[in-house]
Amino acid sequence: MQLRICSGSALRGAVTAPGDKSISHRALLLSALAQGDSTIYGWLPAADCQATLNAVRALGVVVEQHAPGDLIVHGRGLRGLRPPGAQTVLDCQGSGTTIRLLAGILAGYPAVSVLDGHAGLRRRPMERVAVPLRMMGAQVETTNGCPPITIRGGALRAIEYPMPVASAQVKSAILLAGLYAEGETVVHQPGPARDHTERMLRAQGVPIIQHDATVRLMPSEQPLAPLQLTVPADFSSAAFMLVAALLVPNSEVLLRQTNVNPTRTGLLDVLQAMGAPIQVGEVSEQGGEPVADLLVRSAPLRAGQVAGDLVVRMIDEFPIFAVAATQAYGNTVVRDAQELRVKESDRIAAVATELRKMGARIEEQPDGFVVEGPVTLRGAHVDSHGDHRLAMALVVAGLVAHGETVVQGCEVIGDSFPDFVPMMRQLGAAIEEI
Ligand code: S3P
Repeated sequence: MQLRICSGSALRGAVTAPGDKSISHRALLLSALAQGDSTIYGWLPAADCQATLNAVRALGVVVEQHAPGDLIVHGRGLRGLRPPGAQTVLDCQGSGTTIRLLAGILAGYPAVSVLDGHAGLRRRPMERVAVPLRMMGAQVETTNGCPPITIRGGALRAIEYPMPVASAQVKSAILLAGLYAEGETVVHQPGPARDHTERMLRAQGVPIIQHDATVRLMPSEQPLAPLQLTVPADFSSAAFMLVAALLVPNSEVLLRQTNVNPTRTGLLDVLQAMGAPIQVGEVSEQGGEPVADLLVRSAPLRAGQVAGDLVVRMIDEFPIFAVAATQAYGNTVVRDAQELRVKESDRIAAVATELRKMGARIEEQPDGFVVEGPVTLRGAHVDSHGDHRLAMALVVAGLVAHGETVVQGCEVIGDSFPDFVPMMRQLGAAIEEI
């Protein structure tokens, strides 16, 4: 699917971003393991979360879907899943969160499970979860470090694990396996990766504590309590509208009740440091997470610096951040972000390649990039590289560019934000499918 974007119109209005993708995956998986029925509202009906829904059903869990985002999950208890065995592959499609979190759960089952996905997922590194799960006693085979992966689980022992990369998926896989392990599981994080798994497990009654960068989990004597949860709006989806409103002249956009969990809002911090007038409203709680209205107006930006702990706090926002940087005065420098090379695309190379086609001055580094701004972007034919966040970032770049932009490969937007185009149009963006 190709999208044609014309620049010029200001963005105005109030919208609510779709449900948080990371929380939607976890809500389903943890409801499946609960004893009793969970109700989930505002679940994200996007392709990645659908992969988790299909997998959970393939594991014997009954999930009623009353509306695309309203689910009732009939939990089967911690040990009640039914792994289908070596002959049936659990298809995680393109979803890294699905395969890595499921690996952690299935490591606790005395059965053989095979997890695989489509070509994009088959390029993603899996040894990062396989290594700690093996240390816990599971047998895990990867295919040259990638999917398909085969897990023979059961009889796990707890480990104390210093994570080599700051990854919420790895942390979550270890904690989920820890639910089945003997003793206390301890994870030391090199940076503050998103903590949705910890919040949700705590709400289900699992003894789990965090001190600085260390998380400790004791397997629960009690069954996991079912969830009653409304998934908050995804900051990572709101980010595209937020940056678009900042860059398109005369815009003003209200992003209602957006998740502002501090492990997710690095982009907000760096943009505010660059001079962005983003007002954060009163913070309240939804689904165990902090939410607030974000009011954004267009304004000039100065260059910013991103390194260290800030990187993991905005790990999914670099494609759209790079677009913002093309309009900022001075050299914006991103370092310590080598993880970007193993996302849905090599986001350092792909972002640099595509934005350069639009006239951006962007230099690739092994662990990040440098953007020289501001430049007047020119409309061009660009490509998503099969990466939903790159596709949406390029659409936003098209709204700022002079002339017409065509982004090809936009069907992947449905991986995380199926309503992106209608929501952008609602704000006044001129985007059409061709
Ligand atoms: C996610 C964690 C991050 C993020 C991904 C979602 C999660 O991945 O990039 O989009 O839901 O735990 P890593 O854990 O690989 O950094």
